[in-house]
Amino acid sequence: MRKPFIAGNWKMNTDSHSGPALVKALAAGLANIDRGKVDVAVIPPFVYLAQVVNAARASGISVGSQDIYFEQKGAFTGEISSNMIKDVGCNYCLCGHSERRHVIGEGDELINKKVHAAINGGLLPILCVGELLEERQAGKTEEVVERHIRKGMAGLNAEKAEAVTLAYEPVWAIGTGKTATPQQAQEVHAMIRGLIAELYDKSFADDMRIQYGGSVKPDNAAELMQKEDIDGLLVGGASLKADDFLAIIKASIPA
Ligand code: PGA
Repeated sequence: MRKPFIAGNWKMNTDSHSGPALVKALAAGLANIDRGKVDVAVIPPFVYLAQVVNAARASGISVGSQDIYFEQKGAFTGEISSNMIKDVGCNYCLCGHSERRHVIGEGDELINKKVHAAINGGLLPILCVGELLEERQAGKTEEVVERHIRKGMAGLNAEKAEAVTLAYEPVWAIGTGKTATPQQAQEVHAMIRGLIAELYDKSFADDMRIQYGGSVKPDNAAELMQKEDIDGLLVGGASLKADDFLAIIKASIPA
């Protein structure tokens, strides 16, 4: 049985007051929830990570970064290493979020280096994959997602790959209000699990958590989570409101 994993990607939002306040409100709302039943993480902007880690202390809420660089130290102006992210008390990081792929221009080789660096630095990467609208319309969803996973996870043996969570986020569903239907998401998730079984083995694939992301809201979370191969949610906009994010978390806990 895969434990649901709900993560809130705050993107370039919040500030030094609202970020810690948001995590405190989440901690209060989760106080009566059996934490053996769900894993929760928040993913704030770099500059607030330490403050949010501090505010999340003892709440059981994990904190992650939205990106990392693949080198550990040196002359890389503006970059942040996985050791630094680990050092401020985080345990997750996103790798290859679609906004980094399509707005900043990151490619699969760079993302693969980041996944390796995350694991080598003691972090648990959340590798984001997903097709553009035109790729879906051209019938290329499987091809694109397969490429993102094969290249993103290249060179990871099973021991290292265990650290990875996958997040299927169709780009056309991110921030657009257009969620993939639970059936559309399930189809891709099942394909991903089949690919992981091919790359590793079936029992490895059965244990791997695959999140769905893209316009997740309190009113569609339960239906998505009921699908066999959807094991968690990566939530953008709705993770910025404590009540909405708490409702999504609660909707994800199996009855
Ligand atoms: P959204 O973002 O929930 O606002 O669509 C999801 C994401 O980009 O991770």
